[in-house]
This record gives sequence, structure tokens and C-alpha cells, in this order.
Amino acid sequence: MSTSIVIFGASGDLTSRKLIPSLYGNFRKKRLPEKTTITGFSRTQWSDDAFRAEMKAALQKFAPESYEEASWREFAKSIFYCAGDIEDPPAFKALAAKINLTGDPSQNCLFYLATAPRFFPIAIAALGNAGLLRETDGSGSRRIIVEKPFGRDLESALELNRQLHAVAREKQIYRIDHYLGKETVQNLLVFRFGNAVFEPIWNRNYVDHVQITVAETVGVEHRAAYYDTAGVLRDMFQNHLMQLLTLVGMEPPAIVEADALRDEKVKVLRAIREISEESIARYSVRGQYEGYTSEEGVNPSSTTPTFAVLQLFIDNWRWQGVPFYLRSGKMLKDKLSEIVIKFRRPPLQMFDVQSGITELSTNHLSICIQPDEGFHFRFLTKVPDGGMETRQADMNFHFRESFGGPAIPEAYERLLLDALNGDASLFARKDEIELAWKITDCVQAGWDTSYAPPLSIYKRGSWGPASSDDMLWRDGRWWTQHCSSHSEAHPAGPS
Ligand code: BG6
Repeated sequence: MSTSIVIFGASGDLTSRKLIPSLYGNFRKKRLPEKTTITGFSRTQWSDDAFRAEMKAALQKFAPESYEEASWREFAKSIFYCAGDIEDPPAFKALAAKINLTGDPSQNCLFYLATAPRFFPIAIAALGNAGLLRETDGSGSRRIIVEKPFGRDLESALELNRQLHAVAREKQIYRIDHYLGKETVQNLLVFRFGNAVFEPIWNRNYVDHVQITVAETVGVEHRAAYYDTAGVLRDMFQNHLMQLLTLVGMEPPAIVEADALRDEKVKVLRAIREISEESIARYSVRGQYEGYTSEEGVNPSSTTPTFAVLQLFIDNWRWQGVPFYLRSGKMLKDKLSEIVIKFRRPPLQMFDVQSGITELSTNHLSICIQPDEGFHFRFLTKVPDGGMETRQADMNFHFRESFGGPAIPEAYERLLLDALNGDASLFARKDEIELAWKITDCVQAGWDTSYAPPLSIYKRGSWGPASSDDMLWRDGRWWTQHCSSHSEAHPAGPS
């Protein structure tokens, strides 16, 4: 049986920088099904060979360490190209002929929508009209991966889901969030549910609060046309940060299976307390990096936030009263994705900690998603030969040290393979996407009123505006960037 992967939007960066390198990675690890072909589809007039040459050049430029001449030559034989316009129905006939779907209905097909989002509905309808998503007895599987952003609010996501469901069943649809393909994100499940010691303390009785940070050093780059209309809330919170939140907050599923996992994640999203308009400034922060409005393609009077903090509560037995602080932004000090579980203080402070910083003597577990993948557990210890002087110390685990050898794979490697194998565990289900939009829509609605927190301009290379520190400080807490600094600065106090 053969397998055909078709990438729409094949001339875009996502294809050359992520998708083709990931498929090549799987090919080198001999994980692709036998007789797999990859066909790029876009308007650019390329021949098969020209497309191969483009993809090879991009790989050599952006991931030179993974390029190897002999295996690329072999892999390139399975790459093809079909020039066509998504808005032109006959182009889909040509595509079906190119992938030989008419000659071999038993082949499995995976269609990847890597186009600009405005083309999603058009491509979905065209695939449906051309019958390319129809599964019948004897036909192979027909699956479709939809890139993010999946809509720009709840209403548009509902509409996109309606369009998808008009041509395919839910089990054929794979809504991708590349954060779920990251090794460390998947390891959260293993860490939480494969070890017995954490479960008893993973709740309101032991956890004071949770911090989730996804920080970037890059700015808007060449994506202003999209980003300036989206902003950090739609670009990062609705998808990546919500996914991390659900994985930290969810109950253990009975089995590791797509729907069981997603049922539990959905329960977390349902339990998130709505932020009222009147209290939006209490529970959120908005920021924009200095000089953002002078970036190419950005509206000079843009008020699009490039940084935000949300304080959310999960109203269930496990998490009642435990704040989850979610923070993300561009042009920050470090590229860093991290989850920090801050535990409660011991009920009695028996030992003197370095004077003045007794409040720092809490345990925390920091889960580093990237770049230095691993865990750190902070605890209090006695200083040798120092009377009863105490200090904080860390137990550290680094993936690279423990497993050495193979580099941590690109997130898309795993996700593409899972979609080929029909495993949707690491993809978002319809209801999951919709609930996540409902939460961010509610924040956006608050930001559109006079109750909105001010849009604070922050320095490039900082950790965001002072209002971000103030939000935690007000609650007697402070941000921790353990994965980047391996230390915790004494909080300076309110600005
Ligand atoms: C994407 C966002 O989904 O994630 C980008 O659209 C962001 O704005 C990127 O830069 C961050 O991903 P990663 O894997 O580099 O953390």
C-alpha cells in the first residue's frame, strides 16, 4: 500500500524549514511508511526538480547538521511538485492525477494545509468537491492536517469546524499545535502519570501557584501582515499556552488514547473561570515592545500586544484557589519555555534562611521545555560546617546529559508520523479548540473595553513591562526563570 502526503502552501517557510526537514528526519530513521511520496502544491511554477532543489537548499541553510548527501538523494526521489491555484477547481483534478489517486484508490493520503489561513476554507471545500477526502470500503485513509491559527476567534473557529465537518469526519481531522510535538511537552504526561510520587502533591494542598512562560527573543520578523492582526493572545495563548496549561492541570486519563486524553484536557478548559470585563485589569497585563510600530508592515499606530500575562483559575477540586500565571512575549531577554510549579511553604519556619529572604525558601519544580530540556527541583539544604545556616540547592535533570546521543527531534517529526499512523492524541479536538477560543475571546472582549489594562511599552531584551512583575508581587509572588539562569533573583518589589 502506498502513502501520499500533499502539502498545500509548499512555497512557504513552514514547508522548507519544518515539514520537509521533519519528513526527511523520519525518512533517515526509516519511520516513513514504505512507498511514501510527498507532493508540494502551490502557485509557484516549479518542476519536480526545481522544488527538490529549493528544499535541499533550505535544509542545507537552516539545518546543515541534519543534511547528508546520500540519504537526501534517496529521499528526494520521493518528492514531487504540482503547480496550481487553490482557488481553481481543475487544479485539484491535476493534483489527484499527479498523486495517482485515481489509479490507486487504496493509497493513504495525508493533506497538509500549510497555506495562509484565509485559504483554509477554500482548500477544504476544494478537497471535498474533488472527492479527495472521501473514505469508502477499500479506500485508504484520507486525513487532513490544519495548521494554526485555527480561526481568529470562537466564531471563525466554529465556522472552520463546520466547513471541515461538511467534507470529513472528526477522526480524519488533525488540528496541529507544534508545542504538543515537543519531547518535553509529551514528557509531562510521563512525568506526571508514570511516577507515583508527584500525584499526591499535584494539587491545591501543596501547590501555591503555577507559572507558565513562553518567551521569545525574536520580534515580529517578516510576519507583520499576520501578527499585527493577531497579537500575542491569538498567536500564543489560545494554542500553545492553553495546551501547556491543560497538560499540567488535567486529571490522569484511564488510558493513553486520543479521546481519553482529550476528554481530560477539555474538562480543564471547561473549568477555567471566566474573567469579567470589570476585573480584566486585575487578571491580565498587556505590553508592546519598544519600536514595534516601526517594524516593517506594522501599522504605525498599532496597539497590538506583543506581550501578555494572564492569571487564570481552574475551578475544580484539584486546583481551587491556585493561580496559574501565563506569560508570553516577543523581544524578551531569553528564548525560553518553562513551567514552574511553586509549592507552599512549610507550615513552620524552623530554620533561618539567609536573612531577609525567608520568603524564597519554598520548593519549586521547574520543567524546561526548551531550550535546555529537563527538570530542576529546588529545595532547602544545610550549609556544611555553617551551624544551622541553610541555603537553596537544586536537583537537576538534563535530557542531553542523561540520554546524550540523538538530538531532540523537531516537533513536526513526531506529529507528522502520528498523523500518518492515525494517532490524534497530540492534536486538538474540535471542542478543545473552541473552548480555548472562548477563554481568549473573553480576555479580548475585556481588552476592548475601558476596563482594559494599559498597553505598557517594554524594553527590548527585558522580561516585559514592570506591570508583569507587579501583578505577581501584589500577590506576594515573583517570576522565576529557572531554566535560563538556574537562579532566582530576590524580587525587587513593586515598581
Ligand atoms: C508559533 C507562533 O506558533 O510559535 C510564532 O506563530 C512563535 O509567533 C512560534 O514564534 C514559537 O515556537 P517555538 O517552537 O519557537 O517556541
